[in-house]
Amino acid sequence: MTLHQTTAGLDGVTAAMTALSHVDGEGGELIIAGSRVAQLAAETDFEGAAARLLSAAGKQTDASELRAKLGEARRRAFARLDKILPATEALALGAGFRAAIAAIDREEGLDDEVMLLGAMPVLAAALARSAEGLAPVAPDARLGQAADMLRMMRGQAASDAEAAALDAYLVTVSDHGMNASTFAARVVASTQADLFMAVTAGYCALSGPLHGGAPAPVLDMLEAIGKADNIAPWIDAALARGERLMGFGHRIYKVRDPRADVLKRSVGTLGSEGMDLGLAAEVEGYAREALARAKPGRRLDTNVEFYTAILLGALDIPREAFTPVFAVGRTAGWVAHALEQQRTGRLLRPASVYTGPMPA
Ligand code: ACO
Repeated sequence: MTLHQTTAGLDGVTAAMTALSHVDGEGGELIIAGSRVAQLAAETDFEGAAARLLSAAGKQTDASELRAKLGEARRRAFARLDKILPATEALALGAGFRAAIAAIDREEGLDDEVMLLGAMPVLAAALARSAEGLAPVAPDARLGQAADMLRMMRGQAASDAEAAALDAYLVTVSDHGMNASTFAARVVASTQADLFMAVTAGYCALSGPLHGGAPAPVLDMLEAIGKADNIAPWIDAALARGERLMGFGHRIYKVRDPRADVLKRSVGTLGSEGMDLGLAAEVEGYAREALARAKPGRRLDTNVEFYTAILLGALDIPREAFTPVFAVGRTAGWVAHALEQQRTGRLLRPASVYTGPMPA
């Protein structure tokens, strides 16, 4: 027996009841803890979004309380770096980040979700610097996560506009229904394993090119295209070879991903330094048309990763760090989902159909 393609991908299967986020793939709408994503990104920073998610998962907090606790968590995570970084030295940045998350553990006096949320930007920044042979920069507990992560990566303060753009990004990707990495985190949490285990699993699932590993290849594509004359021949040739265009298509969205517009607006606030935004918009437009021709009826449109790549690139974040930076934002969703899943007390344990030989 062969599994139907949609069964293999669990399409349309409901795996949880959640108060955290809602994705409407036909309407092109994302609601996070009661707010539309564009509104949430406009009215709050990462701490505000994370506080709403944690509160919705039963851990009541607010943005200012969480900001103070995250400053302390970043300080504690930094104090552990001398033990963590040697284990990542021989690894590429993405694999090193996996090893580093796995080395984060419970800290006296801090809730696990707070320690994880605070540790992620410290690890992402330290590994990005280590890849360039630079020593880590200590956190500044008075700053928000976004401003402090940029400062720890660069060794100097980011502008308010840059910190605001990164905040908008972290809020935008903070949660997104039952995506693959959130599902992975919930499966682990359903065994009553702790949040450190669940978040490590979430990052592993996020890292693949069909999920959170897509933005770096988006920039590779934009660079390979290089100029307007090359757009059509490059994209047509890639599709003729049967390749997928990174930053397009989505399991749930059959219209434009609402997060793409939030991020496009944020890129606009930064100016176009180092990035040809006109070319990117032309690539996007042509890719949408070419996908409609190549895959009629499939309704492939721009997803979050297209403008993620452009935004993170404009912030001078190294390409190899894009997925770790995605994880910094998504950790808010992972920990909230893991807490929500643990509270159900129910082990996630689906069935399979045996296709091997039967004993004689
Ligand atoms: N480029 C070209 N063709 C595509 C693309 C794409 N980006 N996306 C889907 N298709 C094709 C598939 O090959 C398939 O063609 P077929 O029916 O002729 O075999 C058809 O469109 C339908 O695609 P599915 O495989 O059913 O779509 P699925 O729901 O499995 O895929 C996914 C969703 C994985 C995101 C896919 O669109 C893709 O690979 N996109 C590129 C990678 C990417 O941008 N990932 C980031 C997603 S957003 C996020 O996770 C944060």
